[in-house]
Amino acid sequence: MLYQSLSAVLSLLIKLILFYLPAYVANGSPVVFSKIYGPGHPIDMGIVFSDGKRLLGDGKTFEGFITGTVAGSVIGLFLAQIGLHSISSSVTLSLGAMIGDSLGSFVKRRLGFKRGEWAPLLDELPFIIVALGLHHVFVYALPLDYWIVALLITPVLHKSTNELAKRIGLRS
Ligand code: CTP
Ligand code: MG
Repeated sequence: MLYQSLSAVLSLLIKLILFYLPAYVANGSPVVFSKIYGPGHPIDMGIVFSDGKRLLGDGKTFEGFITGTVAGSVIGLFLAQIGLHSISSSVTLSLGAMIGDSLGSFVKRRLGFKRGEWAPLLDELPFIIVALGLHHVFVYALPLDYWIVALLITPVLHKSTNELAKRIGLRS
């Protein structure tokens, strides 16, 4: 009985993580690709908001936005080949993740967080909320468990992959 419910939870978790994967890959890949493209070109083009702070900051570049969206979509394409995703879902999730990530930086700047400074939940949630939101509106509505599990596990996964990235020297 316990074994059965445990394996049901585990298979639901795996199914959902596979679904979120394009958004996770999109969000995580710019830090890797930035080793290739360097500092990149800021999306806000240096524009300062009315509060005197940058609109988004130097951490959000066109290069990162594009490589993130493409990397997430490519993973989705692979998953779609083996019937584990769909192209429209994965492209939407990837694009949504990058829009949400930029939105998170917009809010971080308004609250006075510096580029790269850790802002609890603001670093971890906007990308997945906008990814799922776009999917909800433009592809198909997502059941409530997709939302709840995302909000619960994304901060944990984000924190642990960041730690790993620091250990292997990808992040400072
Ligand atoms: N990155 C990028 N373009 C994006 C997103 C990320 O070039 N649209 C790169 C930047 O080099 C960035 C790194 O990936 O520094 C890590 O991304 P993230 O943690 O989202 O940015 P931060 O530098 O922490 O900036 P912010 O404080 O605005 O979140
Ligand atoms: Mg950051």
